[in-house]
Amino acid sequence: MDKIVIDGGVALEGEVSISGAKNAALPIMAATLLAPGMHRLHNVPSLADIRTMKRVLGLMGVTFEEPGAEKGGHTGPPLQGAPLPDEALAVDTSNLTGWMAPYEVVKTMRAAVLVLGPLLARARQASVSLPGGCAIGARPINIHLKGLEAMGVKITLNQGYVEAKARELKGTEIILDFPTVTGTENLLMAATLAKGTTRIVNAAQEPEVGDLAQFLVALGAEIEGIGTDVLTIHGVETLVPAPYTVMSDRIEAGTYLAAAAITKGKVAVTNAPVAHLTAVLEKLHEAGVRCTIAGDCIEVQPGGGLTGVDAKTLPYPGFPTDMQAQFMALMSVAKGASVITETIFEDRFIHVGELKRLGADITISGNQAVVRGRRHLSGAPVMATDLRASASLIIAGLAAQGTTEVHRVYHLDRGYAKLVEKLSALGARIKRVPA
Ligand code: EPU
Repeated sequence: MDKIVIDGGVALEGEVSISGAKNAALPIMAATLLAPGMHRLHNVPSLADIRTMKRVLGLMGVTFEEPGAEKGGHTGPPLQGAPLPDEALAVDTSNLTGWMAPYEVVKTMRAAVLVLGPLLARARQASVSLPGGCAIGARPINIHLKGLEAMGVKITLNQGYVEAKARELKGTEIILDFPTVTGTENLLMAATLAKGTTRIVNAAQEPEVGDLAQFLVALGAEIEGIGTDVLTIHGVETLVPAPYTVMSDRIEAGTYLAAAAITKGKVAVTNAPVAHLTAVLEKLHEAGVRCTIAGDCIEVQPGGGLTGVDAKTLPYPGFPTDMQAQFMALMSVAKGASVITETIFEDRFIHVGELKRLGADITISGNQAVVRGRRHLSGAPVMATDLRASASLIIAGLAAQGTTEVHRVYHLDRGYAKLVEKLSALGARIKRVPA
């Protein structure tokens, strides 16, 4: 197991390009199951979670081709067609030979449950391990299952597996109790091939749901209300593969903005999904971070002190829970206090104890964290606990005086493509070494 070692205190400088969005690429990969044939996806980030999704789909008979086959990736026999450019992935879903997502995979990546909707639509059956709790909360999938039942799916729980079967999927109105992101995506995918019209009310409006919907439209799905909280899907008979470019990652972009701001650097974040970063950019602006925007490039300008501001996580278009930990790292060196409220997950303050090891002054009360900004943080060994918690430790380590060692970096491999390379190119003194 590797660790990341950072000698903090260097102002980042230069340009960093944002990769494809993990949380858009994952449902899009699952959605390829809906249209038998050869898909060509572009801007797919090179991440552990993407390799895990390939493993899941590989168990169902799906084969892949990518430039320079990655270690651990499932690759089948070579597919026909022109050579693939970088960050591209060819997915052949012609043969479906299984419909099971086993515990061994789901326990490492909850997003594997995204195969449930498409498998039901294509094969009328699915067997998916029920994900357990995780580091950030209980995270049940009851809303996914309730929606599928409303569409005519029979669901039983057998030895930890959700066994789902349907003679046919029927369009209906589904009102979600909460705008769950992957829940909306599962129902949306199932509805594309259902009989009749499905209305998903109180749907998640996250841009990644919109990106999945645009991919489905490219395959021939009929969807109205993309980007809103009511999705209307008119079921069609068949879907056909089409090339698609995955949107870029707003959370990766926000993470580099926070890293630039905490080191008082001058960094141009390019290929950024600017329109989807409004809440994050507003908070950074309130905190005194100066950003200029030109097209898809956001440049953080040095100068100006950081001021503590409050933030509350909300479903999109509110401030994203996936940026809460990184923003807290930033607030830990801001002038004054800030109150950070987490409303999406019940247990998403696991980074707090580790940030405190770096000298941050944070007190938790229920779902609120009171952060009193310190002049300096100081380096220490810390342990990564989940993806975004790990990102917050990297950000804090970049600003801390002395050396910070971040252990259990496999969490970062799940969601940040070439993190060490990208930060090194910005001048950070950072390396990855065996622990
Ligand atoms: N919830 C339920 N029942 C359900 C579904 C969700 O009670 O059936 C609750 C959850 O327990 C949670 C809240 O609703 O408290 C929101 O969960 P949601 O279902 O929206 O989250 P998710 O779909 O499991 C996705 C992202 C997460 C991101 C959340 C919130 C993917 C693959 N994952 O998870 O990303 O934090 O939406 O925006 O899209 C990450 O990338 O680090 C990450 C955790």
